[in-house]
Amino acid sequence: MADTANTQTGTAPHITGNAYPFVDHVYDVVVVGAGGAGLRAAFGMAEKGLKTACISKVYPTRSHTVAAQGGISASLGNMGPDDWRWHMYDTIKGSDWLGDQDAIEYMVREAVPAIVELEHYGVPFSRTEEGKIYQRPFGGMTTEYGKGIAQRTCAAADRTGHAILHTLYQQALKHRAEFFVEYFALDLIMDDDGACVGVIAWNLDDGKMHRFHAKLVVLATGGYGRVFFSATSAHTCTGDGNAMALRAGLPLQDMEFIQFHPTGIYGAGCLITEGVRGEGGYLTNSEGERFMERYAPSAKDLASRDVVSRAMTMEIRDGRGVGPNKDHIHLHIEHLDPKIIHERLPGISETARIFAGVDVTREPIPVLPTCHYNMGGVPTNFRTEVVTKKDGNPDSVVPGLMAIGEAACVSVHGANRLGSNSLLDLVVFGRSAAIRAAEIVKPGEAHRNLPKNAGDMAIARLDKLRNAKGDIPTSKLRLDMQKIMQNDCAVYRTGKTLSEGVAKINDVWNQRDRVKVEDRSLIWNSDLAETLELDNLMYQAKVSIESAANREESRGAHAREDFPDRNDETWMKHSIAWLGEDGKTKIDYRPVHMTTLTNDVQVFPPKARVY
Ligand code: FUM
Repeated sequence: MADTANTQTGTAPHITGNAYPFVDHVYDVVVVGAGGAGLRAAFGMAEKGLKTACISKVYPTRSHTVAAQGGISASLGNMGPDDWRWHMYDTIKGSDWLGDQDAIEYMVREAVPAIVELEHYGVPFSRTEEGKIYQRPFGGMTTEYGKGIAQRTCAAADRTGHAILHTLYQQALKHRAEFFVEYFALDLIMDDDGACVGVIAWNLDDGKMHRFHAKLVVLATGGYGRVFFSATSAHTCTGDGNAMALRAGLPLQDMEFIQFHPTGIYGAGCLITEGVRGEGGYLTNSEGERFMERYAPSAKDLASRDVVSRAMTMEIRDGRGVGPNKDHIHLHIEHLDPKIIHERLPGISETARIFAGVDVTREPIPVLPTCHYNMGGVPTNFRTEVVTKKDGNPDSVVPGLMAIGEAACVSVHGANRLGSNSLLDLVVFGRSAAIRAAEIVKPGEAHRNLPKNAGDMAIARLDKLRNAKGDIPTSKLRLDMQKIMQNDCAVYRTGKTLSEGVAKINDVWNQRDRVKVEDRSLIWNSDLAETLELDNLMYQAKVSIESAANREESRGAHAREDFPDRNDETWMKHSIAWLGEDGKTKIDYRPVHMTTLTNDVQVFPPKARVY
């Protein structure tokens, strides 16, 4: 699939000081990542006449969007009354008032045309009797500002991400975005003015190094779920773009906010969609009690994910977990009509059979809260331009760089994302990136110059790891990091667990110099690729746990037992964290945007969050 022949400029490859020849390319835009956000941005940019490359570590239709199950939210109102303002309120409440209200307004308003657009592109949504797009209830999605339960999540059975990803890839091929498949992006190229002018990538297939010179680079590299031991994320979810941003001297935002999905399969971690509870499934403890009625009397099993995950953890801690070790919870759908299960939940039936040995029509599924989503990432505005705090301006735009999807922190999810707002975020902000790119990138105009020795830092890092002859295998260091994050930065946190976790993560960070890479080849070298991924994960582990230790309140997915209340006076602000190569973290803050884009809606001021 990688087609370099027609995109190379010049015939003689540049030879770096480290003797890795570069294959050079020139593009208007380079999108890094081919999940839902990356593909939507890439074809939107190509459609607007920009010469667009899309680099992906995996074949596009293997990107992690493929694993999204339950659906994509939009107030279409196909199943009853709905309003984008209700969706906006739910998202702000779900975010525990840390989401930027201007960006949330943009996302929920654009949701409706975005779904219609997806339908026209060919996404095979499930249908109602009248032929409309089928919508199911999802956690935290309500009508009339919390009064009723909304049916707002548009579904393609329980394989919605799969359906959307394949459709977007077809659009990208149709619009002739140029793909570089199985290329591992190593680092951004920044110029002396702090603008991004390109990216370096390693072709895993033939070992060559590629230097992309671009007017705009878009990070669409997804989340970093694999920083945890148990995650619903694919093994490839290592947040490479986030680490690239840190190495480029840019901050990451709100990294302490990590979502634990209530229903990962016990032991395996695979996702069992919240759509199960949307279709009438429920959780029980060892006494057979539907305990969510105690924790969220109104929404019950359809409270937001942070609330349900905490309730499950409390039940287990109080000795009411199920199984021989009383360490998990039961999820039931045996009472549902098998026809509904077959039509609307075929994927999870198969997953439960394979990974838990359970026939869902007869017995409950063993589940446990499992790392699922990173609310934090590269800070952007709603136009997807990366922002940083510079000269006192918290919204200073970094020229030449955008971020979208789970890699970005727009911030529409704040301290806790609502289920089905993630697929929405991908398509709305992928499209927003294309709109903004067409405004700021002019095909005929000259590129900014590449700095002298552009890319040599990236190659030096790769070369160092390739020749790492220490005494600790990558797998051991990774396991140590994952166990620390799992134990010390979990659903519940305390100052003690966090400060111990910070010290332990620093130990692991300091052992990076002792890593051992056995295979020196550059062709399909999984040892080296996994070591690069681990290095990227460690950057994010460090800023996540240090940002968590710093935030002395509870908000959304960040639940501090020693600071159990939300503290709006001191903490209604985004954390931004920089990390130097010396391992020193700097943490600062940006204000939450409490403004709207239009007069069609008012700001929603903070209030107590009950479901
Ligand atoms: O439960 C799910 O289907 C996951 C959806 C999401 O994270 O948005």
